[in-house]
Formats: sequence, C-alpha cells, structure tokens
Amino acid sequence: MKKVFITAQLPGKSVEVLKSDFIVEVFPEDRSPTRDEILNVARDSHALITMVTDRIDSTVIDSCPNLMVISNCGVGYENIDVSYATEKGILVTNTPGVLTETTADLVWALIFSVARRIVEGDTFVREGKFVGWRPTLLMGVNVHGKTLGIYGMGRIGTAVARRAKGFDMQVIYNNRMRNEEAERETGAKYVEFSTLLEESDFIAVTAPLNDESGGRFGLAEFRRMKRTSVLVNVGRGQIVKEKELVRALKDGIIWGAGLDVYEKEPVIEEELFELKNVVLLPHLGSASMETRQKMADIAVENALRVLKGQTPRNLVNPKVLRMR
Ligand code: DGY
Repeated sequence: MKKVFITAQLPGKSVEVLKSDFIVEVFPEDRSPTRDEILNVARDSHALITMVTDRIDSTVIDSCPNLMVISNCGVGYENIDVSYATEKGILVTNTPGVLTETTADLVWALIFSVARRIVEGDTFVREGKFVGWRPTLLMGVNVHGKTLGIYGMGRIGTAVARRAKGFDMQVIYNNRMRNEEAERETGAKYVEFSTLLEESDFIAVTAPLNDESGGRFGLAEFRRMKRTSVLVNVGRGQIVKEKELVRALKDGIIWGAGLDVYEKEPVIEEELFELKNVVLLPHLGSASMETRQKMADIAVENALRVLKGQTPRNLVNPKVLRMR
C-alpha cells in the first residue's frame, strides 16, 4: 500500500478519501514538524502533502526513494526545491485560485487597520481609557480618494485593485511584466517602481518571492515613499527588509505598516512589537474557513490524482510529464 504523509492536520474531512486506499500518516501536533521529524516520517512515502512552512529540499527529496508527488497546501511553493524535484521526476503541485479573494480581503483589512488605527483603538477601549469623544483622539489617515500602489499584479494584486473602485481610489502598479488584462478590468495603470514608491499613499505587496522581489523594499525605498504612506505586505516576508522597516517606522519615514508575513518567519524583528504604527498578523492571508477547506480539498485531490496515475490539476513543474 502506498503511503501519504501530511505534515499538518487539515480542516474538514478531505483526508478521509485517502484512507481506504492508502496508508495515511498525519503529523499530529499543532506546530510544523522539525526537519528530523519530516525526514523520519517521509522516508517511505509516495506522496507528501506539505504546508508552506515545511522546507522540502534536496536532502528530504533524496531521503524519499518512492516519492511521486509533493502537494503543497498553498499557492506559494518556494519552500520546495522544485528544480531538484523536477530532476528526480517528482511532480509538485499547489493550490492557486481559491485563496485569491480571501487574501485580497486581508490586504484591505490591513490597510484599514493601519490607516484608521483599529488595533490601537480596540486596545484603548479595553484598557478603560475611553472617557468620551475628543477632537484629536487617535486620528488616522483617509483611505478613500487616495492612490493605491500594488507591487505584484497577479491574481491577488488584481483582486485588491478591483476592490479599490469602491473607495474611489486611483490604482497604480508595478509588476515584472505589464498585466493588460488587469488594467482593462480594474483601470490600474502600470508605472515604474520609482513612481510606485513616490506616488502611492498605500503600497500593497502581493508579489511572490523571486530574484527580483527579494529585498525590494529597504530604507532607500522607504525614503522615496510619502511620509504619510502605509506599506502592507501579504506576499512574502523576504520582500521587505524588516530591520530597515523598523527604522522607517520609528523615524516617521513612512506613516505605518501592516504585515502578515515576515523575513524570518515565524521569528519577528523584536522592535516591531514596540511600535504602535504597525499591525502584525500571523500569516492569515488565506485563513477563512471556506478557503482553507478548499485549499485542503485541492491539496488532497492533487496528491490523489498522482497516486492513481492521473495528471494533477495544479502542476507547478509540467516539465516532468514531458520528460516521461
Ligand atoms: C500561500 O498559499 O502561499 C500562503 O502564503 C498561505 O496561504
């Protein structure tokens, strides 16, 4: 019987469909498995269903001689050494599409939380400090009518831009390539990176991590942004140099930030905890019950299809099929 190792307990019942035909081992604890734990359990697996927090590198791949598929439960897959998996003829899949709208919602939650000081306001009330309306109490900045800059105009960036219409915002974006379809759909305008920095009131980072996006936002970039601007990152932590962001937030180089992802996740730059002009979330981009359920279903289905000798729907490395 073939074996499937799932590195986390998934929501819902999608895993049940595997149990009649395969040996299914699920990492039982509410934390990511360590490298040794992955190596120990994965070894005789034919399929791995992994989370974006699991590093699946050449050592892990080499330790699994039977491996047919690595099915990542997430749209990002930079946690997997895809080129090595491809070399070894192992299929890699992800769960695109289903989390687009949910992640775009979270971008807006962060924009408003920072701009309108929602978290500070909540803390203020809970601490019993609210003694009545004051004309200068916790003043934020307007969102409506401003310029939204999107760094990374893929599916999520486009969904963020679509929502901006309701707030009468102008949308500009920077992307590796122009996305004319998104421009037609949302009215967003392509600009150079320097223009994005200089003209945006809010910058939403929705790009995946790649050679170009890694370390793209540092002190030099923050200095080009407006002093009243807000940076929101739901892409990958390594796109923003966290220590330099701390400096920009402390010195008032930019007005605020909202972060869902971190450079050395789950470790967070300590000084961020002391700052009131930043909202920190624990990588919740896709975390709605409906969406996490769909992600689990797709991750299971992708693995199942490969185990049954079928082509999975969300193949990241189709080259493997051409090599066969
Ligand atoms: C992804 O899917 O890549 C997210 O970061 C987790 O939902």
